[in-house]
Amino acid sequence: MSKIRIAVQKSGRLNEDSLKVLKDCGISIDNGKDQLKATARNFPLEVFYLRNGDIPQYLRDGVVDIAIIGENVLVEKGVDIAIVEKLNFSKCRVSLAVPKSMEYSSVKDFEGKRIATSYPNTVKSYLESKGVNVDLHIINGSVEIAPNIGLADGICDIVSSGSTLFKNNLKEVEIILKSEAVLAVSPLISEERDAILQRLRFRINSVLQARN
Ligand code: PRP
Ligand code: MG
Repeated sequence: MSKIRIAVQKSGRLNEDSLKVLKDCGISIDNGKDQLKATARNFPLEVFYLRNGDIPQYLRDGVVDIAIIGENVLVEKGVDIAIVEKLNFSKCRVSLAVPKSMEYSSVKDFEGKRIATSYPNTVKSYLESKGVNVDLHIINGSVEIAPNIGLADGICDIVSSGSTLFKNNLKEVEIILKSEAVLAVSPLISEERDAILQRLRFRINSVLQARN
């Protein structure tokens, strides 16, 4: 019998809550932390622990059938991937921020500025829609340090509690999008595995309702 293959963030903010949802669905997963793959004992499901940014491509290629992933990652790298459930955790924003000392009145103030980000597509399409041209510097982490070391005039990154912005003397000036964890589905999912997905969705919906 086939099993549905689900991608879960390997490490990071979504990992724990993603596994918690599966657990609350009554699915027990043998968890060798270092293993990249685990099989559920009582549900036809295999978990693949993957890097966030790689998950959209795995879904597109049908290497995994479904994923628990931040909506922000899909907006950046997988606008073509369908979302079937919003999971109501890992809520955050993707925002533009500038040094606290900078006088800021509108998004036009970014014209010609250097922006450091791990979300180039997201920020580009947002600013293009506003008719603002910028110079993007793509970096993979610790984006908030960029203005302090003279690499950029502003940043675009995830904001959750706001504490990273605060610690780096930055202020959030534009919210580009609001995001939360979602259940996403490969366009190549088989009929048999789609039937398993429907069973899983039924359980997830019960769990989400009970949490409210
Ligand atoms: C993420 C994100 C922000 C921060 C937002 O970084 O890139 O920097 O969390 O959270 P906050 O508003 O609650 O402070 P993370 O700590 O995951 O590290 P990274 O940027 O190096 O990947
Ligand atoms: Mg960060």
